Amino acid sequence: MISSNISVNETSHLCFAGVDVTALAARYGTPLYLLDEDRIRERCRTYKSAMAAAFGPRALPLYAGKALCVRDLYRIMREEEMGIDVVSSGEIYTAKSAGFPMERAYFHGNGKTDADVAFAMEAGVGTFVCDSREELDAISRFATERGITQRVLLRLAPGIDPHTHRAISTGSVDSKFGAAIETGGAEALCRAALSLSGVRLVGFHCHIGSQIFDTAPFLDAVRIMFSFAADMRERLGYTAEEINLGGGLGVRYLAEHPTIDYAACIAEIGTAVTEACRALSFPLPAIRMEPGRSIVADAGMTVYTVGSVKEIPGFKNYVAVDGGMPDNPRYALYESPYTVLPANRMNEKRDFVCSIAGRCCESGDLIQEGVALPRLVRGDLVAVLTTGAYNYSMASNYNRIPRPPMVLLSGGHDRLIVRRESFEDLLRNEL
Ligand code: LLP
Repeated sequence: MISSNISVNETSHLCFAGVDVTALAARYGTPLYLLDEDRIRERCRTYKSAMAAAFGPRALPLYAGKALCVRDLYRIMREEEMGIDVVSSGEIYTAKSAGFPMERAYFHGNGKTDADVAFAMEAGVGTFVCDSREELDAISRFATERGITQRVLLRLAPGIDPHTHRAISTGSVDSKFGAAIETGGAEALCRAALSLSGVRLVGFHCHIGSQIFDTAPFLDAVRIMFSFAADMRERLGYTAEEINLGGGLGVRYLAEHPTIDYAACIAEIGTAVTEACRALSFPLPAIRMEPGRSIVADAGMTVYTVGSVKEIPGFKNYVAVDGGMPDNPRYALYESPYTVLPANRMNEKRDFVCSIAGRCCESGDLIQEGVALPRLVRGDLVAVLTTGAYNYSMASNYNRIPRPPMVLLSGGHDRLIVRRESFEDLLRNEL
């Protein structure tokens, strides 16, 4: 199995976090999102302890809520004493409603509006990760008006190609995010931040991309960020207190993907940080990382019911399920790989190669292609693994399909944390 929270019981049923998936589908209906709380906590602890070992006691992992943003997640993050990365007023609202201590929140985004800036300050967000001169001016103006001093990190584009999907690569010079080091934009933003009232520049941020298996681009990012920090010390007399290296470590979607040792990756990045500090005689700053996918992806699973099986002799086969791109747009968007299992027929031979089709009115609505399953029939269950990240958070109501519910699993118990959307929910905003 691709993850240790997946197993099969004596009735040939798939189990997730020790719970029979067929029984959960019977209780809650399908499509259904499942979430393994114990796995999420385990990953938070791995990040916390590995970062403390690599970067010292001031280090803090920030969970990137864009991967999965629901109130219960922020409760878990509060209990695990994590920080968080928030990217909209909606995420801030969700985190605050879970009682998350907002001084440990970092507010990202290249499109913060004045309303967002005001909302975040009102909510007590600890740090803004500023993306542009316009945003910096807005932060300064609002903070000065309120008589506060806002902590600010500057988002920089270090000019790195992390060899991941183009749509999720974010650190290159021509990225829409941040100020490029190479063009002098970063230095100009730094000068501005040091000159404005209401702003306390605490350091620099970068995020190079997502679903990255190799540590090499992170080590490059460390070298580039620290050399920029040393340049700013030399040229502007400013010493960064904090460096945020963003998120991006990959997860295993398929058996052929490597199992990632997150602690070992963090230790390697730690060595690069120590070396950079020594080489530049730079005092070790407080280090932040912002994992999203690697905290929640393999803590998630989606369960569907089969509606029809279509064989096109000489061409291909389809298994159509009761969900699709509204609950998981990632194959349609990025051709993302997923492992698909026959949840109620796990011990049968898998010799029927098929595409898993969603129920939407477009051919691109596929969950996966080239999957080997038993010859399923209407009513059978299909489980898609590793759907904890960027599934519910990217879900839509396309074709007026209500979003599925989410059930949290912990210690063998299940609890509904998000109810299934109703038809009334679909009409809620219509006047
Ligand atoms: N920090 C920043 C500033 C980010 O932009 C992101 C992700 C993260 C942290 C978390 O990265 P992670 O550890 O999850 O790789 N929708 C795409 C992924 C987009 C990632 C956007 N930024 C997908 O479904 O693959």
